[in-house]
Amino acid sequence: MLPWSLGVIPRYPKQEVVKTREQTSRDCVVVGEVANSTPPTDACIPVDDLNKHTLVTGATGTGKTFTVATIVNRLTEGEYSVFFKPLILDWHGEYSSLLHDPEVKDPFHLPITLLSRDEEYYSVEFASQVLGLTPAQEYVLLKSLESLGGEENLNIADLVEILEGMADESAWFRESRLSLMRKLRRLTIGGYKELFSGGDLDLEVSSNKPLVIDLSKIGDLAIRRVYVAAFLKKIFDKALRGGFNSRRLLIVVEEARNLLGRDNYVEILVKMLDEIRKFGVGIVIVSQSPSALVEDVMANTSTKIVHSIKSAVDLEVLDKVVNMTSEIREILPYMDKGEAVLFSSFYKKPLLIRIV
Ligand SMILES: Nc1ncnc2c1ncn2[C@@H]1O[C@H](COP(=O)(O)OP(=O)(O)O)[C@@H](O)[C@H]1O
Ligand SMILES: [Mg+2]
Repeated sequence: MLPWSLGVIPRYPKQEVVKTREQTSRDCVVVGEVANSTPPTDACIPVDDLNKHTLVTGATGTGKTFTVATIVNRLTEGEYSVFFKPLILDWHGEYSSLLHDPEVKDPFHLPITLLSRDEEYYSVEFASQVLGLTPAQEYVLLKSLESLGGEENLNIADLVEILEGMADESAWFRESRLSLMRKLRRLTIGGYKELFSGGDLDLEVSSNKPLVIDLSKIGDLAIRRVYVAAFLKKIFDKALRGGFNSRRLLIVVEEARNLLGRDNYVEILVKMLDEIRKFGVGIVIVSQSPSALVEDVMANTSTKIVHSIKSAVDLEVLDKVVNMTSEIREILPYMDKGEAVLFSSFYKKPLLIRIV
């Protein structure tokens, strides 16, 4: 039987903080304090680990968003702040009130393109993954793009029009063409047409002010997901071309299971996670359930901040990827809001911390 099912709430252990190396205020983002330690000790994330990605997880209401906002606020106020640009993909529209001095943008003022011409070819594979196209639908999409000229970026509404006028090679072609049109048309209805009519994302990184994209303005959740995916792809592409040389980006992806979920991940984005770290881009992946995420995400996040987790399945998944102590395992289901376990390369052992 699992220890926490016995109804005995374990007491917090006295914590001894054993560091793997010395830290200075220049290389440490203070996220809170180590619980039950004497003398009182700051809990830190090394600045140099941020581009190796961070996972913030825990059940709903345990303090994930508050924790991320704390990290972003510290990052923009610390000595290292000039090197960073935080970018928050704010799924629920919560960050503008939590950050100290954010620039908040409406996605409708930051239109994007789902299909852009990358050198020789349009990003068909990406669009196919995001929209969940069948191989036949992907083929029809390629065919329709072939009939286009050399436009840099493609407006979805124009594409639907082209598809409408296309001659059918066969019965299956017709069926796939019509179902593809249905999928694409959803992105062109009403105001959404604007959202996907953009060109290159013009992202300003000349200041270290956190940029918050208020995704809650996009009412349709499926479209919100497509927008975030397209947004990330644009940024990753630009980063891989060395486009953000002047600053390191810290990108917060809230409700990450929409893009990086075990059953619906966008493969190109998962693959890029590993590559972009070398280009100074760090991702903070926020999700309530570690077991809902694709395995690569667990493996590809160096720092983990784990708020209270009650599900045995989630605890099992965590147990496989991090070095848990039995004390921590027993505490995890019972932690209060704002308490978390920090797994960081700064410390030899996981630490129970309070986010302050
Ligand atoms: N460390 C903390 N100190 C004080 N209040 C907190 C802390 N963490 C969370 N809260 C509060 O608890 C509530 C839920 O936190 P939130 O970050 O939204 O949880 P989650 O993102 O995990 O659903 C919010 O009202 C938030 O202000
Ligand atoms: Mg939240």
